[in-house]
Amino acid sequence: MADGSRVQLALEINGRTIRSEIEPRMLLVEFIREVARLTGTHVGCDTSYCGACTVLLDGRAVKSCTLLALQAAGARLTTVEGLAKGGVLHPLQVAFSRHHALQCGFCTPGFLMAAVNLLAENRDPSEDEIRKGLSGNTCRCTGYVNIIAAVKDAAEELRKAAA
Ligand code: FES
Ligand code: FES
Repeated sequence: MADGSRVQLALEINGRTIRSEIEPRMLLVEFIREVARLTGTHVGCDTSYCGACTVLLDGRAVKSCTLLALQAAGARLTTVEGLAKGGVLHPLQVAFSRHHALQCGFCTPGFLMAAVNLLAENRDPSEDEIRKGLSGNTCRCTGYVNIIAAVKDAAEELRKAAA
């Protein structure tokens, strides 16, 4: 593509503003990985199926392979690198570790971000609600049982912290 068609874009990711000149067709996941160098957001398919690319856009989980980077202009983005605060892991990260809710770990960033969204909307989800809330994410290793246990555990921790 000719240079004349490139556009300036500034995106807020994990509280930092990242600026770059990009091709208008650049996907959000490409901006996150290749421009912002935040490689915790993964690409596991080319069919919008796997959910490994899930990030938060103004708090809502989105598959960043399904959006253009330009569509995120003006929004607040959070990637998995933004979950821990001051070196302290997010309760979901702690629970995933405690419950062995990952094996290869490739899907984990996407599950974590989808689960953050789920627990923001539902503080005490049932197993069915967790399965439904995470239905856009695929794991080829774990069989999901430990992931669901981790989300239930993290929900309880978050409720206790808020009490
Ligand atoms: S990379 Fe698979 S849904 Fe986005
Ligand atoms: S832990 Fe390997 S794909 Fe989920």
